[in-house]
Amino acid sequence: MKKKLIAGNWKMNGSLAANERLLRAILAELGQPACQVAVAVPSAYLAQCQALLAGSVIDLAAQDVSAQEGGAFTGEISAVMLKDFAVRYAIVGHSERRQYHGESDETVALKAQRALSSGITPIVCVGETLAEREAGRTDEVVKRQLAAVIHANGHCVSEIVVAYEPVWAIGTGKTASPEQAQQVHAVLRAQLKAASSSADRIKLLYGGSMNATNAASLLAQPDIDGGLIGGAALKAPDFLTIIATAA
Ligand code: PGA
Repeated sequence: MKKKLIAGNWKMNGSLAANERLLRAILAELGQPACQVAVAVPSAYLAQCQALLAGSVIDLAAQDVSAQEGGAFTGEISAVMLKDFAVRYAIVGHSERRQYHGESDETVALKAQRALSSGITPIVCVGETLAEREAGRTDEVVKRQLAAVIHANGHCVSEIVVAYEPVWAIGTGKTASPEQAQQVHAVLRAQLKAASSSADRIKLLYGGSMNATNAASLLAQPDIDGGLIGGAALKAPDFLTIIATAA
């Protein structure tokens, strides 16, 4: 059985003191979870969180990675640099990056490529806006976003994680219903199956206002293999409840 993955996305939240409090509170109660667990922390805190998580079952993740290999790219952080901090996953193509930083499907595909070539698993985010959903374009949009990554990463596509995050559900308290989420996950699974014989082992996460209350019904869906959690990952009891749900 494929283990589920519960990944926290801290976004631009935290401080040295708050990170330590949060991780210590989670580690104190975590025990041996039945699922895999990761936290995507702001890059300024990678070293701190690497030290706090050393020897624990929680993997370290980055929230982004540069599409460039290295050199004159002020402010960018390369996959090789992330590897120095034992980063296991890097989120790529989060809707906040696509929306506020103009990241195209091609840029996201390149970022996934850089991560994979450094041995980091990209968590590739796809998702439609409310306008796109209302126009009946959900499947077309998520398939286009995923196709760019599959196209650029053909032979190692089975090494990626995909996160379906409907933009209208992120940070809004509005969650996709388990049926709505499963429907899109099934579309993505079919697309991955057409591209890879190992598609069954690719984890498909749901993200968008997943919390301690709705996690169980979302995670019970056949093609939902875990969650990418924003707000609820900043509260130790909520994050722990979601992890416990993902057995
Ligand atoms: P949210 O964020 O859980 O706060 O909606 C999820 C995400 O953006 O990854």
